Amino acid sequence: MKFNTKTIHGGQKPDDAFGSVIPPIYQTSTYAQSTPGGHKGYEYSRSANPTRTALEKSFACIENGNYGLAFGSGLAAIDAVLKLLEPGDEVISTNDLYGGSYRLFTTIFQKFGIKFNFVGMGNASNIEGFITDSTKLIWLETPTNPMMNIIDIKAAAVISKKYNILLAVDNTFATPYLQQPLDLGADIVMHSATKYIGGHSDLVMGALIVKDKDLADRLYFIQNASGAICGPQDSFLALRGIKTLHVRMQRHCENGKAVAEYLVNHPKIENVYWPGFESHPNHHIAKEQMNDFGGMVSFTTKGNNYEEAIKIVENLKVFTLAESLGGVESLAGHPASMTHASIPKEEREKTGVVDSLIRLSVGIEDEDDLIADLKQAIG
Ligand SMILES: Cc1ncc(COP(=O)(O)O)c(C=O)c1O
Repeated sequence: MKFNTKTIHGGQKPDDAFGSVIPPIYQTSTYAQSTPGGHKGYEYSRSANPTRTALEKSFACIENGNYGLAFGSGLAAIDAVLKLLEPGDEVISTNDLYGGSYRLFTTIFQKFGIKFNFVGMGNASNIEGFITDSTKLIWLETPTNPMMNIIDIKAAAVISKKYNILLAVDNTFATPYLQQPLDLGADIVMHSATKYIGGHSDLVMGALIVKDKDLADRLYFIQNASGAICGPQDSFLALRGIKTLHVRMQRHCENGKAVAEYLVNHPKIENVYWPGFESHPNHHIAKEQMNDFGGMVSFTTKGNNYEEAIKIVENLKVFTLAESLGGVESLAGHPASMTHASIPKEEREKTGVVDSLIRLSVGIEDEDDLIADLKQAIG
């Protein structure tokens, strides 16, 4: 099956009970047994639930993996990956990443004896210099949140394989429509399914997808033992979202391009971060590993003027000032005070997250209305 068919049919079959084409919401915690252990594959909904199973099969299929796991949030999915590690293990992470991932690493897992190195990965060979005998995991996002840096997944995978280290890729911004990290050599793909996968800003969810059975078994054990699963209603909504992922992403990419090209020519705007520009430092890698450039665009005001930036986000009318991204509606965020506030100022400024940075999640509204909204807000 090609991708646009997989989003609709991947891992799906009519429900066994009545042939329901769409998986029912199995709103149950438990399942009747005829004798102890005599059940139809489901015992208790933390371990497995049929609606969640349908979603997990869809996750596996769209990312070209063999196993999918759904969690109660993106951070719960990352938490499960980190629980593969032992005290004393080391992680090499990109230095430009979602603030909540940084907070999870530095305030929760660091105190259990896991060491994190935050490294610029614009040149993937930088990773190699940080590898020690204790390095067990390389964690990367690409495009990164919010600076839209691009990391060469294939090159990172060559390094991870050479040293027998797990490579995990947060594929939230790109989605499998644009990029399929397992095909490029990653071991684990992670999503905040809250974003493009769900696509309608109506749920919070995380996903992991892997190819390897042993790794999948270890993660399923953690999913059940730690219990950070999502419920059947959210599983149903995410499955419905996935069915239109390809058409939504196509429009997100078109509108993202139009917005980036509008902003880059605006006299009041200093920098525009979007991997589709030929001037983007890793445009050539984006072109190779992605099918298009996505709907996320970040920019700064002339002279890094904080007050100007705040005025812009307050003036927007079609774009809503809000946390999150990846829904059909356009959102604007101010990373320094919102999504990335948990990263110390000196740390975030090193990667470009300055006080005038605005991040846009360009939705699928009419392109002309989005441009007109930016025009009136920037002035
Ligand atoms: C790139 C990225 N990874 C992970 C997360 C965390 O996901 P969640 O908010 O679903 O826990 C986010 C949330 O914004 C994100 O943008």
